[in-house]
Amino acid sequence: MAVLPILTYPNPPLRQKSKRVRNVDGSVQRLIDDMVETMHYVQGVGLAAPQIGVLLRVIVIELPGEETLALVNPQIVKRSGERTVEEGCLCIPGYRGEIKRSVKVTAKGLDRQGREIRIKGEGLLAQALEHEIDHLNGVLYIDYLESMDKLYKVVVETETPEI
Ligand code: CO
Repeated sequence: MAVLPILTYPNPPLRQKSKRVRNVDGSVQRLIDDMVETMHYVQGVGLAAPQIGVLLRVIVIELPGEETLALVNPQIVKRSGERTVEEGCLCIPGYRGEIKRSVKVTAKGLDRQGREIRIKGEGLLAQALEHEIDHLNGVLYIDYLESMDKLYKVVVETETPEI
């Protein structure tokens, strides 16, 4: 396993669409393991493969005190509600912005063993699923801001985790 460097905005791969994974083989499992180790190292709650420059549809999420979640080829199949959240991203370190996210999200995809799974998330989990799946489409949370002036710098670490 290895901790990999995280690309920072505006690195071009962050704006590209990632490819679907054809087989959840050993190389994909190694990628997942490296992403989990990297996420732990930077104390993020989620990471998408393009953030480390790998344009494959793979995400990992780990909410504080919860189990690690890995999803290959994730897709949101249902979303409901709307709430305003403060959001940050590991690729845009030190900044936050207020955007709208769904309250509840259902996502499906494949797990580390290639089995189909369905995840129902609420609150921070729903936010992380939307944020990481956006990364696979080259979308960043700053795209939802009215303008870049709405982005603010955080000097002291806030409670808002970066994803
Ligand atoms: Co991010």
